[in-house]
Amino acid sequence: MVEARQCTILVGSLRKNSLNRAAADCAADHLADRFTIRQPDLAVVPPFNQDVEDAGDPPVVADLKAAVLDSELVLIFSPEYNYGIPGLLKNTIDWLSRPFRAGSLIGRVVGITSVTPGPRGGENTREQLLQTCGVLTERLYQVTLGIPNVTQLENNTIPEESRSALHNWLDEVVEFSRQAPTL
Ligand SMILES: Cc1cc2nc3c(=O)[nH]c(=O)nc-3n(C[C@H](O)[C@H](O)[C@H](O)COP(=O)(O)O)c2cc1C
Repeated sequence: MVEARQCTILVGSLRKNSLNRAAADCAADHLADRFTIRQPDLAVVPPFNQDVEDAGDPPVVADLKAAVLDSELVLIFSPEYNYGIPGLLKNTIDWLSRPFRAGSLIGRVVGITSVTPGPRGGENTREQLLQTCGVLTERLYQVTLGIPNVTQLENNTIPEESRSALHNWLDEVVEFSRQAPTL
C-alpha cells in the first residue's frame, strides 16, 4: 500500500479572520487530493525554554515535532509583525530546530507565504523566514510567495486572483518536492 504523503501547515496568526489562516485553508483544499494535511494549533505551543526541553519535550511539542518529521512538505503562512516574524511562529520554529543540528525540519521541503493588507506582501518576514529556515533544512523552496493588498476576505477566503497565484505557487512547490532529492 502506498502511504499518503503528509503536509504540515504552520500559520503565524491566531486571529479568527486571519488572512494567512484563510490562505492556509485554501492551500489545504488545493493539496487535499495529494496530501494528508495537518494544521497544528500553535497557540498551545509553550514558550521555548531550554530547561523545559532538558526535562523532556512537553507532549504538544513532541506531537508537533512528530507531525513535521512525518511530513514531506511544511508550508508556512505568516503575517509580518513589525518588519519581522511573529513571535508565535518563531517560537514554534525554535522548538522545531532542536536538538541542535538534528531538528525536525531537516529533509522537509519548506515553502513560505505571507498575505498582507499592505503592498509589500510581508517581504521582511519572508526574507527572515528564508534565513531561519535555510539553516534548518536543505530543501527550502527559495521562491517565497507574497500576496499583497488583500484587505478583506470574500466568503471567508482570499480573493480569486490571490487564490490562483497561490495555487500556481503550490504546484511549483510540489514539483520542487518531487525533483529535490529525498534525504
Ligand atoms: C503587531 C502587528 C505588527 C504589524 N506589523 C506589520 C508590518 O511590519 N508590516 C506589514 O505589512 N503589516 C504589519 N501589520 C499588519 C498585518 O499585516 C495585518 O494585521 C495582517 O492582517 C495580519 O495577518 P493576519 O490577517 O493573518 O492576522 C502588523 C500587525 C500587527 C498586529
